[in-house]
Amino acid sequence: MNDELSSTLTRRLGGIAYGGDYNPEQWDRATWVEDVRLMCEAGVNLVTVGVFSWSSLEPRDGHFTFGWLDEIIDLLWSNGIAVDLATPNAAPPPWLAGHTDTLLVERDGRRVSIGSRGHFCPSSELYRDRSRRIASALAERYRNHPAIALWHIGNEYHAHCFCDTCDSRFRGWLQHRYGSLEELNDRWGTTFWSQGYDAWDQVHLPSKVRGHVNPTRELDFSRFTSEVQHELFLAERDILRAAAPGIPITTNFMAFFPLIDYRRWAEGVDVVSLDMYPDPAVPGSLIEAAFQYDLMRSLRHGQPWLLLEQASSAVSQWQVNVAKSPERMRLGSYQAVARGADSVMFFQWRASRYGQEKFHSAMVPHGGESTDTWRAVRALGQELDTLRDVPGSRIRAEAAIVWDWDNKWAVEGAAHPLNSFSYRDVVMEHYRALWRTGVHADVISLDDDLSAYRVIVVPNQYLLSQHAADALRRFVENGGHVLVSYFSGIVDEHDHVALPGYAPGLRETIGAHVRDITAIREGEAIPLVVSMEIADLPGSAAAMRWQDDIGLETATALVSYGSGRFAGRPAVTDNRLGAGRAIYVGTTLDEGLLGAIMSDLVKTAGVRPPLSAPADVEVVERRSEAASYLFALNHSDEARNVVLEREAIDRLTGVAYSSGHTLELAPQDVAVLFSARIGA
Ligand code: GAL
Repeated sequence: MNDELSSTLTRRLGGIAYGGDYNPEQWDRATWVEDVRLMCEAGVNLVTVGVFSWSSLEPRDGHFTFGWLDEIIDLLWSNGIAVDLATPNAAPPPWLAGHTDTLLVERDGRRVSIGSRGHFCPSSELYRDRSRRIASALAERYRNHPAIALWHIGNEYHAHCFCDTCDSRFRGWLQHRYGSLEELNDRWGTTFWSQGYDAWDQVHLPSKVRGHVNPTRELDFSRFTSEVQHELFLAERDILRAAAPGIPITTNFMAFFPLIDYRRWAEGVDVVSLDMYPDPAVPGSLIEAAFQYDLMRSLRHGQPWLLLEQASSAVSQWQVNVAKSPERMRLGSYQAVARGADSVMFFQWRASRYGQEKFHSAMVPHGGESTDTWRAVRALGQELDTLRDVPGSRIRAEAAIVWDWDNKWAVEGAAHPLNSFSYRDVVMEHYRALWRTGVHADVISLDDDLSAYRVIVVPNQYLLSQHAADALRRFVENGGHVLVSYFSGIVDEHDHVALPGYAPGLRETIGAHVRDITAIREGEAIPLVVSMEIADLPGSAAAMRWQDDIGLETATALVSYGSGRFAGRPAVTDNRLGAGRAIYVGTTLDEGLLGAIMSDLVKTAGVRPPLSAPADVEVVERRSEAASYLFALNHSDEARNVVLEREAIDRLTGVAYSSGHTLELAPQDVAVLFSARIGA
């Protein structure tokens, strides 16, 4: 893991990276000059150039036109603005797409045509060759240019291709994975519905079938899809790394993107980056953003990451695109920094005059310098200058929540009692409850080192390997506190039910077994009887969506069903094992009860938030060896008070406070409270 290289960027920039995607090929020279003037005014120190420039850089096969790029990079650099230079593989130009086998095929067999982006087949040899060729040309030409601070490979990889080339590559991938057809037949369970394969050429990727496709085949295709694109990324990364070993490399990840296992991809980048577009019209969307930020930070075990894209105001790709207020733009930007980002970047610098995204907001809107958005962008850039020493500082989390792509693919790809089930929703229900406790949480997989944590929340880990089940048991035996929710430990990594009953791998940990599982009718709520003594217990509690039939062994029931078929049987159990504790939740609890249980778990584990604050004030602490930076973010539309527990200076206002001071945060306001860590 190359932490040294990842910090190169912010060391060069001398602080937090601030800027956005810049598409100078859409503008004339006079606008370039104007752009650079405004960038300097707003404190922009990094712009991403070239993401969608392939046809401007190579208008014909092998005919390169780098002159304009030389010019703009020189202009930016002569004004002190560094460049995050992209390889343009996300939008192959028409001359390449003219070779139709470079075009992606959808699951229904339809080959896409050009005129948008992301239309390439990840297995096409011609596409691979031409995208590597332009990456090499860029690397060769700019590797010694002092402006280049970061390489940006492609854009939001998201190909899901069902063409013949991918089909044969998938077959090769399976041969490598399973070694023999017998093994494949066994792992895919092909005796079900007469699928036994007799020759490799009968094995195909899961294009459109009648009814349900074999779930293990679908699961393997998801794994393959992530890996085949990773090959593309790695090929370009190796070219850039060989040409310019001192420049860090990234590619922008997407929030909740289902098709790529970013945990595996994170090993191959020098720094993780994210594009995040929380919908300002959706209450709580900033909690989803917080989850993504915690995930990005955890992918490389606490290493700071980059917010590479966000909107300054509205996006244009949804049905209804509500504008983000300047206050919320500022709050959301600091939220990312609080949770470990060393950058605040936008899509894009200047709003386009034409094209698919001409109504997407930008740092410089169509209305230019007279707009609130521009004023907020300029003010934020100037303000971020007060946080020059924040990059590199870290967050220490004693709690963690599991997010696992293999599990997502498996649980959403299998037919089971609740096919409306959304892994994302279940994880977010648990994350929201954790967020409300105010404690720092990492987002991990059960294959990570668990020893740093005191609390682990495991929402719906349907696919659970023996190895992961053992790790969880040891975690509890050694004093860890876990909360595991229903429909966990059901299948192994091949999506075969782990017998006997359900969740046998968790039996010792949770001190109970699951005899049976069933869905609850849409809209029905089964009353619950709560027998545990915890603070903030809601007046009434209900179970929804799902019920386990749980048999207690060493565990006790904390909550039981108040009526229905399982009346009197446990819904939530509590087990002490070794020095630790495991709570098992066999249903979907309402928000109040889940919140109360989560907060009890966190408290009994001895994990504390960095500062106690009202529920809608998010407080996160980043620390370096010498300093503590306490970010206090008021999500409310009303003023909120927090009582400081040590003396601090608010870096954003320069005001010093003594310990015990009551700080009033205006609606949607932020404070970044700096304290020296004496003797730390
Ligand atoms: C991102 C993409 C950008 C732009 C943006 C609009 O997903 O990388 O190029 O399209 O969305 O919000």
